[in-house]
Amino acid sequence: MTAEPHDPVSSTPRVAVVTGGASGIGRSTATRLSADGCRVAVLDLGDAGGTDAELTLRTDVTDPEEVETAFKEVVATFGRIDVLVNNAGITGSAEATRCHETPIDEWDRVQAVNVRGPFLCTRAALPTMLRQGSGHIITVASVAGLIAFPGRCAYTTSKGAAVQFTKSLAVDYASAGIRANAVCPGFVETPMTQWRLDQPELRAQVETKIPLGRVAQPEDIADAIALLASDRLVYMTGHSLVVDGGWTAW
Ligand SMILES: NC(=O)c1ccc[n+]([C@@H]2O[C@H](COP(=O)([O-])OP(=O)(O)OC[C@H]3O[C@@H](n4cnc5c(N)ncnc54)[C@H](O)[C@@H]3O)[C@@H](O)[C@H]2O)c1
Repeated sequence: MTAEPHDPVSSTPRVAVVTGGASGIGRSTATRLSADGCRVAVLDLGDAGGTDAELTLRTDVTDPEEVETAFKEVVATFGRIDVLVNNAGITGSAEATRCHETPIDEWDRVQAVNVRGPFLCTRAALPTMLRQGSGHIITVASVAGLIAFPGRCAYTTSKGAAVQFTKSLAVDYASAGIRANAVCPGFVETPMTQWRLDQPELRAQVETKIPLGRVAQPEDIADAIALLASDRLVYMTGHSLVVDGGWTAW
């Protein structure tokens, strides 16, 4: 089912920016938001060809100049930004495991994409949202922001930061009409996790931990993001929405 995005101010289509929209959850989100009637811009390091986005910009979310240029282009094209989905993220290499084993450059790389990236993109989107007096910043965190993933020190830390970043934004911008919420997926079948899920034993190990009995598909997470972006939950801000098939419920 698709729904027209509800804009209480006018019938102008909503404008959504999705980072990391070339693959996985971001790609599904771009498709879903487009189907819901949004005008979508995708920012990604990689080729976002084949998405339903109206605008695709090759952008490294860790680079302030590239981010500023991309957001200027979004505003020049669409005139506004209603929703920012901070989705681009990485887990780090196999070496980025427990604290004392994590190479310093791996730590820095994970924090750069997962923490600095949302900061830079939000910072670049906020002047437009402040001018509008409205906006919604949705950051894709992880259940790793709520519980620790064993042997994933840098990633767990970065997703905890994403949850707190969301709360900080919620508190600081509520009076300006801007909301911030996070989505915390559990295990999702995307290129990020495919190497593990392609191994039947490892897939089974993961799935036995999930009460609903299966890993999520990217569309399951896009659904949650689309619900937040639809403006149907207008009293919700600073919240982290867990979408994990019940994984963290036991
Ligand atoms: N897959 C999962 O199980 C899972 C679970 C919880 C949270 N998440 C989070 O969901 C988000 C999306 O993950 P996914 O599984 O779809 O991964 P993915 O690897 O399929 O997609 C990530 C996208 O981010 C882009 N990207 C990476 N670094 C970038 C940068 N510096 N600048 C711009 N784009 C960049 C990549 O090019 C890619 O298109 C991430 O934040 C991830 O941490 C994923």
